Amino acid sequence: MKLIKAVRGTRDLFGEDGQKYNYIVNAAHEQFENYGYTMIKTPIFEETDLFKRGIGEGTDVVEKEMYTFSDRGERSITLRPEGTASVVRCYLEHKIYAQEDVSRFYYSGSMFRYERPQAGRQREFNQIGVEVLGESSPILDAEVIAMGYNLLEKLGITDLSVTINSVGGKDSRVKYREMLLEFLNPIKEELCEDCKVRIEKNPLRVLDCKNDKCKDLTKDAPIILESLSEEEMNHYETVKKYLEIFGVRYVEDPKLVRGLDYYSSTVYEIITNKLGSQGTILGGGRYDNLLKQLGDKEIPAFGFAAGIERIMMLLGDNYPKTAPELYIAWLGENTRDFAFKIAQDLRASGLKVIIDFNNRAMKAHMKKADKLGVNNVLIIGEDEMAKNVVVLKNFNDRTQEEITVEELKTKLI
Ligand code: HAM
Repeated sequence: MKLIKAVRGTRDLFGEDGQKYNYIVNAAHEQFENYGYTMIKTPIFEETDLFKRGIGEGTDVVEKEMYTFSDRGERSITLRPEGTASVVRCYLEHKIYAQEDVSRFYYSGSMFRYERPQAGRQREFNQIGVEVLGESSPILDAEVIAMGYNLLEKLGITDLSVTINSVGGKDSRVKYREMLLEFLNPIKEELCEDCKVRIEKNPLRVLDCKNDKCKDLTKDAPIILESLSEEEMNHYETVKKYLEIFGVRYVEDPKLVRGLDYYSSTVYEIITNKLGSQGTILGGGRYDNLLKQLGDKEIPAFGFAAGIERIMMLLGDNYPKTAPELYIAWLGENTRDFAFKIAQDLRASGLKVIIDFNNRAMKAHMKKADKLGVNNVLIIGEDEMAKNVVVLKNFNDRTQEEITVEELKTKLI
């Protein structure tokens, strides 16, 4: 029979990968809660229009990568390619702005993009992310950048580089667009086919092209910082000042524009050179116009998302392994009930306990405990049961002692 396999671009996480995933997500949630963020969970699918209007019709994500389908009620549904649009939809729908001045949310979960799969790039991937709504201070931008950067550092990920830029507001971008078009039009024919379309739809995207020839041709393109208003420039300068105060080293990249249309003002990415072409671990920025676009509200916002699979690749073996703390070896059918009762009792007290369901010889039990990486083995034979005691064997200290279950608890818990 032909075995059914996981769909191209998707990936099962189990064993060590499962542990790594949990470790990253738990560390992230702890970090975000430290800064006063609360968990938000939005649906995995939304009305297609949310992403079209939110992310922008001219973006690769909306044009080429969305998993869109009609449901049985003929609604156009899309599996979320990212989390920001959904969080904003939820915030507007529930009028959260009327309940609090500033909202700080974090989330984690699957996102879906129909991209060409390769190492570090999947069609279903997982993100951890944060969104802050209702705050325009540039200090927030720096604080959020520092929060994500420090999280990666805490996870032991080194050699990261933070790249920042400001893409200004609508007016500056209109001004910049003109300057950029003046530069791009004469070289249009030499650019890649995608960029020829980008020039028409959203010329800023040309600067984001990964094609080497396009990169080379645009290396002297005018930079957007030169088009910023005084206020936008001050905002950008304050972000940089606070990054320094928070101890985050950064580099400025005037060509950084990001792949989603909702950004304005600060944009940034955290990059590694250890993952080849998929080196962006985390990306985000300010999106002060998105709430206007989706709900006619003038509410500023800032956020980021990081790819969990990419962090997992960088983590290597550097994560805490969660082996059981105790293996119970019961010897002979008569001891089974007694042993299972003890296992439940110890688990209720908080110990991680493994007990086998089959009657095995001592040697087989020891082999199993060893394979599981458990240090403590509890041996329960008929003699021990009669005396209401157990034998605790510790592989590390090479000790073995006869104790009561109560004594065992004080010793191990
Ligand atoms: P993004 O840059 O599209 O931003 O994605 C953020 C991160 O998700 C990337 O840096 C990368 O690590 C990971 N990622 C993206 N696509 C894939 C893929 N196909 N396979 C594996 N990992 C991937 C956003 O999604 C914005 N919503 C971030 C944001 C939040 N901006 C403001 N708030």
